[in-house]
This record gives sequence, C-alpha cells and structure tokens, in this order.
Amino acid sequence: MAGNKKIIGSQCIHFNEIDSTNTHLKKLLKAGEYIPEGMVVKAGFQTAGRGMATNQWVSEREKNLTFSLVVCPSFISPENQFIITKIVALGIAEFLAGYTGDIAIKWPNDILVNDQKICGMLIENKLNEKGIEYSVIGIGLNMNQQTFPDEISRPVSLSAITGDQYDLDKCFNQLINILDKWYTDLKYSDDYSGTHQKYQDLLYRYNETVCFKTAQRRFRAVIRGVDKYGQLVLRNINGQLERFGFKAIEMEHDPGHTCR
Ligand code: BTN
Repeated sequence: MAGNKKIIGSQCIHFNEIDSTNTHLKKLLKAGEYIPEGMVVKAGFQTAGRGMATNQWVSEREKNLTFSLVVCPSFISPENQFIITKIVALGIAEFLAGYTGDIAIKWPNDILVNDQKICGMLIENKLNEKGIEYSVIGIGLNMNQQTFPDEISRPVSLSAITGDQYDLDKCFNQLINILDKWYTDLKYSDDYSGTHQKYQDLLYRYNETVCFKTAQRRFRAVIRGVDKYGQLVLRNINGQLERFGFKAIEMEHDPGHTCR
C-alpha cells in the first residue's frame, strides 16, 4: 500500500542560473553528498543545458521549466529501467492534458504537441552491482517562450499553442505532484502492463509507416511499440519485427517520399 509521504519534491532547490541541473545533481551524488530521494534542482537559466547524446538544451531565461530530480528505484531491475522514462513521459503528458490536446510521446525522450516538440527528458541512470543506484531525471518543458533558435527542430511552447501565459511556480508544483503520483504508483506496483499500454496509446506514429535511418540504411517501417527494454519495435516491409536501441536509429522526415 502506498504511504502518504511525498517522494518527488520532498526538497527543492532553485538556482537563478546554473550550468545544468542534471550535471549539478550528478556532481553532488558522485561526491557522496546526502541527497534525499525525490530532491529537485530547478533553474531559471542553464548556461550548459544538456540534451540527449551530445545535444545542447537551450531555453530562454525564466520562460520555461528546467529541472532535474533524483530517485532511487532499487525496486526496478536494470533490464526494466525504461519504465522510468515511460512514467515520466506519462506524467508530463498528464500535466499537459490539463491545458491542451494532441499530445504524443515520441520515442525515446520527446513530448510533442501538434507534432512539435514541447518537452525533452534526459534520464541518466547509475547502475551498481545491486541494480539501479539512482536515476537523475531532467526535464525541459517549454512554457512561455515564443521564439526559438533556427537550429532547433520543430520547437513549441505551451503558451505558443494556447495563447495564454503560465505561472511557472504553479505549473511546476502541479507537474511535481503528478510525477510524484506516477512514481509512487510505480513503487507500489508489480505489474507494469497498464503503464506499457498507456505509453503505447500515446506513442507518436504508433501503427504508422515512418522513415528511419540507421548507420547502414534508410528504410520505411511500421511502429509497433516500445518494449520493456526501451527498444523501439518496428515491423519492416517483409512483415518481420525488428528492435532498435535509441542510439541505433533515428526517425526521419520524408517530405519527398524518397524513403523505401
Ligand atoms: C532532449 O530533448 O534531448 C533532452 C532535453 C533535457 C533538458 C533538461 S532541462 C533540465 C535538465 N538539465 C539539463 O541539462 N538537461 C535537462
């Protein structure tokens, strides 16, 4: 049975400016500092915000939500670690659904509204011999920013969609409470099938034919889901299922329909 005590957001530190909230939390953890589970570090501005792989995360000062939190999901086996990404994505989607529609989760780490990227997640797990020691979950959610640098592909903010301005503190508290609910439910559940289904229901381009690129080839395939290991499951043109880890494949826009 779940207790009443809040985990995520049990403590929160705000920086007006910092390099990266993920980097900061990881430094504290590596230095062996006591960090209570659920602690959040948030920032008004990041000077070296990080995205997936070697990407940067650029976010205008005081316009958006940029924060990271730490959880210690020792109850999850390393092979199931993608469930963390799934519940975080579902939590963000639930928050957004209070304000807008047409929300999709683009594997592996983007949340889209109207096919445009509103949010990115950077989830960095530290494994040890016993399992997952900690997970640093970084979230960049575009709230009030109106213009974006040209190099960012199809960005959008909630304000650009709805025309409203958002109170960042209020939205942050709402989102944290929702993430806490998802994490607590995960902690006290041993059946993840409902979560896998909800994730699939929101999966961008689920059951659609999409163009993909790997190091070796460019091809069309139907998205059939994301398995418990976090691999994208595709059905290729021969009807066979193929699975790809997130470093192995990229979805491609194919406006000229040149993908075969
Ligand atoms: C991505 O889309 O590639 C992931 C973006 C993650 C951005 C957030 S903002 C808060 C946290 N701190 C970082 O440096 N990155 C994450």
